[in-house]
Amino acid sequence: MSAGERGKELFKGIREKMRLPVMAAPMFLVSGPEMASACAESGIACGLPSLNAREPEILDQWLSSIDLQSGLIMPNLIVHRSNKRSQSDLDLVVKHKAPIVISALGHPGPVVEAVHSYGGMVFSDVNSMALARKAANANVDGLVLVCAGAGGHTGALSPFSFIPAVREIFAGPIIAGGAVSNGAGVRAMQCLGADVASMGTHFISAQESLASNDYKEMLVASNIEDIATSALFTGVDANYLVPSVENAGLSRDDLNKRRDQVMIDDENARSKAWKDIWSAGQGVGEARAIAPVSEIVNRIEHEYNNVPACHNTVAVES
Ligand SMILES: Cc1cc2nc3c(=O)[nH]c(=O)nc-3n(C[C@H](O)[C@H](O)[C@H](O)COP(=O)(O)O)c2cc1C
Repeated sequence: MSAGERGKELFKGIREKMRLPVMAAPMFLVSGPEMASACAESGIACGLPSLNAREPEILDQWLSSIDLQSGLIMPNLIVHRSNKRSQSDLDLVVKHKAPIVISALGHPGPVVEAVHSYGGMVFSDVNSMALARKAANANVDGLVLVCAGAGGHTGALSPFSFIPAVREIFAGPIIAGGAVSNGAGVRAMQCLGADVASMGTHFISAQESLASNDYKEMLVASNIEDIATSALFTGVDANYLVPSVENAGLSRDDLNKRRDQVMIDDENARSKAWKDIWSAGQGVGEARAIAPVSEIVNRIEHEYNNVPACHNTVAVES
């Protein structure tokens, strides 16, 4: 069986339940059970980072209270070695038999073994060909491609080249994100070979998200020029809202400094990024109001169904 064949078969059932080929991306300190449920009710998928539940006991409650078996709510596990909860959270998704688990920031092998044991699927977050190959070799069922412009830990590759290149080596479902913020972006990801578009930043502004009101207000007031990439806070490139960096007493120039060590789960690093210093991707300008998930999805659906064949400003007769 070539890489991804299992996912290609199994994902069909989930995709058929989706009204739009969209996943509200898993976001640290932003995606909670209320947003996940609102997304599933609106007919789109949603990632749910396990670390957003402060304790494993709370994660256990969350996984019991949401409609996990719909397959539309996908727990997200950070498998980086600095995450001390990797194993306990994995045990919980196994206990609840989550149909799809998204692994991020580490080798997905142990997650694949555990989740396949009960018939579930594993999608792996990747932002390079090397990581895509490694995940495909670890037998993941789907890939989440994080492309340039994404909120959170971003990728550097353009979706124009990254998606087709991954398609050459992977037959399974591909979810692709990075600054997708309207219906045209969703269509574009599909044209390039992705099955589903991942949208994070736009959903920070959802009424149901866990983001503070100040964060949501700054987000809807911001545009592409307010976003800067920096490795200062976690040691890995991520995109931030510059006004939040300035509110914390730093300048745009400070963002060019680097941390020597990767600290994804370090308490201090965490409190800065993303609690006090807020992350968003380059598509931030499309989030123009704080609105319920259902309204955001209606809007994206309308745009998706009304994308003109091309957007030429200058019409040329052929
Ligand atoms: C505030 C924030 C937190 C994020 N936290 C996570 C996370 O915990 N796990 C993860 O896999 N990706 C995380 N991401 C990345 C998203 O899953 C996704 O790749 C990204 O939001 C897509 O780009 P977009 O924001 O431009 O739509 C985060 C993104 C943001 C904006």
